[in-house]
Amino acid sequence: LSAGPLSGKHVIVTSGPTHEPIDPVRYIANRSSGAQGTAIAAALRDLGARVSFVTGPASVPPPDGVDVIRVETAAEMAAAVNAALPADAAVMAAAVADWRVANASDRKMKKDASGAPPALSFAENPDILRDLSAAAQRPRLVVGFAAETDHVIDHAKAKLARKGCDWIVANDVSPATGIMGGAENAVTILTASGAEAWPRLPKAEVARRLAARIADALA
Ligand code: C5P
Repeated sequence: LSAGPLSGKHVIVTSGPTHEPIDPVRYIANRSSGAQGTAIAAALRDLGARVSFVTGPASVPPPDGVDVIRVETAAEMAAAVNAALPADAAVMAAAVADWRVANASDRKMKKDASGAPPALSFAENPDILRDLSAAAQRPRLVVGFAAETDHVIDHAKAKLARKGCDWIVANDVSPATGIMGGAENAVTILTASGAEAWPRLPKAEVARRLAARIADALA
């Protein structure tokens, strides 16, 4: 076993969607497959990092050789990230639900006799990336993602400032790109010093390039 450039380093990776319950059998989710986060965890592992992989209910299996922490909701993901600290770096690739159902029912909801549909109300979830970026135990390098369907770079620049992270990996998830759930990704890396557009690449190659950059930044 060769000592890679990230040996001795601990990296937290979040991945996949979150599920926000409506009642015991129903939930709100999103189209994240977890493919990009899983590839990033594997690439960091390949460079020798110890990886805490905090994953929502993804449709791809987690990589071997990482510590897998399975969660369902955003609140559980936030707690798992905190529990995994301290870390040298964190990559927040999860598609975290912005809202949870505030009036989730602990029994299966039934159609009522009047036929009136139920009304759901929502509460804001914790912003795991923003909170980690401001935490006392903030990892030295915090990387966020921005999945956008329009004005990708402008939105990602605003996100870098708002979230307080070091880098944003921005990608266009318009349905026409086939990126969400697909095998390839076309990303732009935004840092304090500018934007760098990468060509459309397999998600595994995006992951390898990102892991190499993380190794450089932590060296
Ligand atoms: O605000 P938005 O959801 O577009 O930000 C995306 C980035 O923030 C991703 O890195 C995602 O993992 C992270 N995020 C988070 N917790 C949330 C919402 C987003 O960590 N509640």
